[in-house]
Formats: sequence, C-alpha cells, structure tokens
Amino acid sequence: MAKLWAARFGKETDSTVNDFNSSISFDSRLYKEDITGSMAHAAMLGKQGIIENGETEKIIEGLKGILSDLESGTLQFSEEYEDVHMNIEQILTERIGDAGKRLHTARSRNDQVALDLRLYVKKEILAIKALVLEFMEALCASAEENLETVMPGYTHLQRAQPVTFGHYMMAYANMMKRDVVRLENCLEGMDDMPLGSGALASTTYPIDRDFVRQQLGFSRVTDNSLDGVSDRDYCIELTSALSILMMHISRLSEEIIAWCSWEFKFVELDDAFSTGSSIMPQKKNPDVCELIRGKTGRVYGDLMTLLAMLKGIPLAYNKDLQEDKEAVFDAIDTAKQCLKVLTPMFSTMEILKDNMKKAALKGFINATDCADYLTKKGMPFRDAYRTVGQLVAQCVKEDKSLADLTLEEYKEYSEHFDADIYRAIDLGTCVAGRCVTGGPAPSEVERQIGVIRRFLEQR
Ligand code: ARG
Repeated sequence: MAKLWAARFGKETDSTVNDFNSSISFDSRLYKEDITGSMAHAAMLGKQGIIENGETEKIIEGLKGILSDLESGTLQFSEEYEDVHMNIEQILTERIGDAGKRLHTARSRNDQVALDLRLYVKKEILAIKALVLEFMEALCASAEENLETVMPGYTHLQRAQPVTFGHYMMAYANMMKRDVVRLENCLEGMDDMPLGSGALASTTYPIDRDFVRQQLGFSRVTDNSLDGVSDRDYCIELTSALSILMMHISRLSEEIIAWCSWEFKFVELDDAFSTGSSIMPQKKNPDVCELIRGKTGRVYGDLMTLLAMLKGIPLAYNKDLQEDKEAVFDAIDTAKQCLKVLTPMFSTMEILKDNMKKAALKGFINATDCADYLTKKGMPFRDAYRTVGQLVAQCVKEDKSLADLTLEEYKEYSEHFDADIYRAIDLGTCVAGRCVTGGPAPSEVERQIGVIRRFLEQR
C-alpha cells in the first residue's frame, strides 16, 4: 500500500522502518478520543465554512459508524497504517469518499495526537481518582472499627509509643488525600485544548478554536502553537503523581507483608487474597502486596522514561514524542490494577487485635508516659527520663514489663511514685491521653475520620 506521502518519495519505505515507526499496536486505545476530536474538528470546519455542511454531516456519520464497528469488534485496525489517526482517516475515506479526505484540513497529526492524549489522560485521571476514593472509604471503615485497637507505634522499627490501628490507617488516609489533590491539580493544570496548533505554526484557515474547546469540554485553549504540540508536562505530572501514590501503597504493602509474618502476626490476609507455595505446604504468601511493591518501581520507571525522553527535544514535534504513550499507559494501567486489588484485599484482611495488644504490652512503649508521670509530679523531664531509663534497664535484666514492678520497687527509684502509676502506664490511658489534634486518642481519630469523610463527600 502506497504511503500518504508517496508523491514526494522515490522509494517505498523499508519494512524495518515501517515496523519501527508504527505505533498502532499501542495507540489504538486512543480510538475513542481520536474520533471525538475529529467530530468536533469536522463540526468546526463546517460551521466556519471551511468545508461544506453536507460534508460535515457525512464525516460525523462516518465516524459514528467507525466507532460503533470498533466497539462491536467488527472493525479492526490494520498494521499497514502507521497509527490510530491514519487508520481512522483511511477507513473513513474508504467509507465516505472525498469528504473523508477533507477532515484533515487545518489539522496535523501533531495537534491531533496532542489532543487525543489529553482527552485520554483526563478520562483516566477521573477513573484513578475514583479508585483512590474507594480505598479511602475502606481505610475510614477500618479505622472506625479499630478506634480502640491498641498496637505499638514504631520508630526505627523499634516499638516506640502506643497508637491504635485506627490511628495508623488514618495516616494512610491522609496520604491518599494528598494523592487525590495531586491528581486534581494535574487535571486542572492540563485542561488546555491543543487543536489548532497545527503541525507547529497553527494554520491560515479561519478556524474557531474556542468552539472546538467547548465541544470537547476543556476550560482553555493552549496559548502557543509550538508549545501546544510539544507539551507533555501533564504526562510527567501524572506519572509523578502516580509514582507518589504507588510509593504510598507500596509502603502499606510492605507493612502488611511484615504484619502477616509469624514475627508480627498482626493481620491475616483472606485466603482469596493470598497464595500458597508449590513446595512448602504451610505457606500463605502475601503476593499481592509484594507485586504492588514491585510494580511501584515500574511506575517510577515510566516517570523516568518521560523525563529522559523529553529533556533533549527541540521545538516543536519530534518523533521521540511517540514514546510518551507506552510510559503513560503503563503507569495508568499499573496504578489502576494495583488499586483494584488493594481495596478488596485490605477490606477482607483480619485484624488480630489480641496479637497487637500483646506486642504493645512488651517493649516498654509506655516508658515515655512513665517519665511524664514523674514530670507531672514535679520532677524535671530530663531527670524523669533518666530515672525511667534505670527502671527499664532493671526490667530488661529481670525480663519484666513496667507494669510488673511493685510499688516498693518503684519507690526505690523515686518517692514521687504512688499507686496511681499503674493507671498512668496503662496502654488505654496512654492512648486516650494523646488527644491533641493528630493524636491516637479514639475521640481524636474519630475527628480525623470525619475530616476525610467530608473530603470524600465533596468529591
Ligand atoms: N503517532 C504519532 C505520535 O504518537 C502521531 C504524530 C505523528 N506526527 C508526525 N509528524 N510524524 O506521536
């Protein structure tokens, strides 16, 4: 089949170049956006008298037919035509004749692909956002059920101070809230309609860019044609937002992997969301979490692909830009895939409250509260800190917890100790006392859940 540009060329394209140049294998997924964009463009050409009105109707009807045939599977793209844009234009011309050849008036594939990708990314941002919101619901539900589920909080992976599982989950809800805001900012920042930029220098036809903008639901039109065809900032912003999102769910995955080990045993994954071993009969593996953790690297790779691909491209369009699609699609597909499995895995995970409590009772996570007790009785904090350090050292030696010491033993270290020390170092008291904004006290975590729920309601 002769190329569109055969008139200018003395030879046919080498087959290796055909394969190398072709993007239809991956950009075919833009067919809906391509058709939507072409319909708006054709309507504008007709309205402006650039093509005849009868032709506009023919084009739009033809495109509708192509869309429904593609959706029903009766029409397939051909490898013969380089990309989704050329395939659709070719099929249209085969079906409606000369009117099909007029569609590309005042347009280039360069502004066409810039438009298609923006339309696609806008749609996918909303889809990803919906999945994140769903996961945030699940986090809130779990937090609500675990307002009083005391567990050790860690620093350096050493037991540090008591928190609750509800408090812990709301930490992740706050991360996801920022992810949602980042996705929304990306959507708002990329809401410029590039069609009309032409190949690079716009067009001499009397087009109406604002009409096309309205038809396609953008807030603005791009303000410079060179930038309009070369800008892929929004791809970087999206993959960057997705990298951060993946980093968050990867951290949670890492926690869940640790928590379902026998070393922790804080949670038990549902059988439907775990896997077994081909050799070790006892195994129940958190493969889903590990894959999320692994796929995070892949999304980072997509971000790096785009940054590296773009850094040396002079204005305006260069074919390097075709490489944007696989990275963007992969990041979107991967994030969606991970979120779709994460939410049900998380929601069906059993929380082993007793094991969390047992772990909380060991490791002196109430030592700070013991020092605070002395401080409240008048001892300067640094002295109290040293005194409790000595108490802990004795407990470690005798394999005891602070609650095991008798009042006489306490009094050997300080006269400030009274019978009320036991209440002061009770884990429930320690958690309930941390009721400042952001703290783990059940009433405070309830407030935090309220903030996130309101955020969700507003979306
Ligand atoms: N398939 C191309 C891409 O994805 C479309 C634009 C091609 N433009 C060109 N002048 N070769 O970027």
